[in-house]
Amino acid sequence: MRRRGVGEFARKSDEANLVGPQIIALNGKWVLYGSYYLEGYDVVIAHNDVLQFLKGFPESIATLVVTSPPYNIGKLYERRVELEKYLNWQKEVIRECVRITKPEGSICWEVGNYVENGEVYPLDVFFYDIFKDLGLKLRSRIIWRFGHGLHARMRFSGRYENILWFTMSDDYIFNLDEVRTPQKYPGKRAYKGPSKGKPTCHPKGKNPSDVWDILLRDWENEIWDIPNVKCNHPEKTLHPSQFPIELVERLVLALTNEGDVVFDPFVGVGSSLVAGLLHNRRVIGVDKEKLYTDIAYQRVIDALRGVLKRRPMERPIYKPSGREKVARPPPEWIHIRKVHEY
Ligand SMILES: C[S@@+](CC[C@H](N)C(=O)[O-])C[C@H]1O[C@@H](n2cnc3c(N)ncnc32)[C@H](O)[C@@H]1O
Repeated sequence: MRRRGVGEFARKSDEANLVGPQIIALNGKWVLYGSYYLEGYDVVIAHNDVLQFLKGFPESIATLVVTSPPYNIGKLYERRVELEKYLNWQKEVIRECVRITKPEGSICWEVGNYVENGEVYPLDVFFYDIFKDLGLKLRSRIIWRFGHGLHARMRFSGRYENILWFTMSDDYIFNLDEVRTPQKYPGKRAYKGPSKGKPTCHPKGKNPSDVWDILLRDWENEIWDIPNVKCNHPEKTLHPSQFPIELVERLVLALTNEGDVVFDPFVGVGSSLVAGLLHNRRVIGVDKEKLYTDIAYQRVIDALRGVLKRRPMERPIYKPSGREKVARPPPEWIHIRKVHEY
């Protein structure tokens, strides 16, 4: 594949006054950190506005587009606008994502809720129509459940978000065997019918389901629990809403093959890039905040050097035994103990 030169790239970045290109090769992978897409690299990290970046992007190149867009809730990296305006902008981005995705490819949009004056608008409901209008088909509406988050006072505290998995066509990649989880009772046998006495489970494990909610070992137990990236998590950076690498790893393994391109249009600190790289995919990501793309670049380098701090997919989630001091109610609550003793 032709790898375009720095000179060519530098001219473009001068024009737009964006990041000058940095190119390195590590462990046989070519990494480009700049502001535009150039072909021939295993990793492209761009500091740019997403629509600006996508203008120069060739058609039908990605097998998976996976992202968590801004939710228009006033985080550090976004300015709140009217919901309709936000959705129109997202539709423009999604239209471009459709243009650059292969016919056998998928688009996964990970979203939570938009909240205005205490009223909740579930973003996946709005996004469904956008994707449907563009001709895509929903294959799974995955619930990613996590144990921690803000404590609401006038509604139930939110503890899940959705991943809408859409495909471009009916002929799409789905490597179920790559993400099967062990059966609870693999020794079960049919007790009647023509298969009587034969094992009933799939020998490679079961379909992990569309609820990614978990307490113990991920690949090795039957349910999925991917902790949210919060303060004690080894992957935590200064990004306020980073998602866990292992969440994307599952999508990468199921929806792409080795060597395929994974693209994240709102890449933040590069969690999707790392998830793809760990499984030998080519990865591309763009974010408008240089602070984040600088971290993404560093995380990619660390991943390629094998020194990235991350929560391994197979690590069990810590479960308090009940004997820890923090797991017991404070003594001064003795008179309201009942609430804590169920
Ligand atoms: C929910 S965060 C994504 C975090 C990412 N999944 C990660 O793990 O780091 C959304 C990101 O979209 C970026 N963003 C917002 N508007 C953008 C735009 N117009 N172009 C490019 N990136 C944008 C923000 O800077 C933010 O990092």
